[in-house]
Amino acid sequence: MKRGRPALDPDLILSELAKTSSKWLDIKVFAQVESTNDLAVQRLSEKPSAEVFAITADEQIKGRGRLQREWQSPFGAGIALSVAVPIKLFSCEVSAIPLLVGIAANNVLKNLGANAKLKWPNDLMIETDSEELKKIGGILVQRQSEHVVIGIGLNTDLQIDELPTQIATSLSLINIDASRESLIAALLVQLEAVTKLGTNEWVPLYLAVSSTVGTQVSVTRQSQSVVTGKAVNVLESGELLLDTETGPIEITSGDVLQVRPSQP
Ligand code: BTN
Repeated sequence: MKRGRPALDPDLILSELAKTSSKWLDIKVFAQVESTNDLAVQRLSEKPSAEVFAITADEQIKGRGRLQREWQSPFGAGIALSVAVPIKLFSCEVSAIPLLVGIAANNVLKNLGANAKLKWPNDLMIETDSEELKKIGGILVQRQSEHVVIGIGLNTDLQIDELPTQIATSLSLINIDASRESLIAALLVQLEAVTKLGTNEWVPLYLAVSSTVGTQVSVTRQSQSVVTGKAVNVLESGELLLDTETGPIEITSGDVLQVRPSQP
């Protein structure tokens, strides 16, 4: 136990999963890792034919985020979970998988009573009373040959002094109390469920919880060029469709800055 926070109990994760019909039961729990995603990628390179497996840890010291950022997971204060899933289990386009993972994690947060939203592509956000959005978790999906490694980071018990930015939050800061074991089990159940969603099913589910579509945004692309316009839709590929002054633009990846809500 560190800072008064208990270590994960692997048996509790399994007993939570036993209450469901989930078959995703191969879960390894570590006290400390550099990155659960890196470990999953390494395990896949040793066993490329692996079925679904999950790796989690109490503490992650070199956690990786999207766009080459870092991700902080102090001991016992968050969830650092990576799940390796054969791509053939998904019913959607491969490039849309990160958005479906967002839907799965968002469902877990909504089931806890949180006012949860998704900032494109898959930042896990909480909408506060003043309609301000705070980031509570993030998702990093990496392709490794015939698998995807789905990395989910969720701030559960981080306190204000432990948060990386002022626009971040944690479950305990919004007064939601849930064990990390039950959250990991719920994430696995929801992930398994979204693998079955085809395009006609996932797009409306995504749009219903998107904090981005319908707003005026400014997107910094990987080339560092900035595009401004109104986010009007997400495509089957997972791309964000922007209406700009020079016409429609499809955004594949980038950092979205929400400028202001658009008028209808
Ligand atoms: C982001 O918002 O930039 C994505 C953050 C993803 C963090 C998770 S924690 C579990 C997994 N292991 C990693 O190294 N990163 C992901």
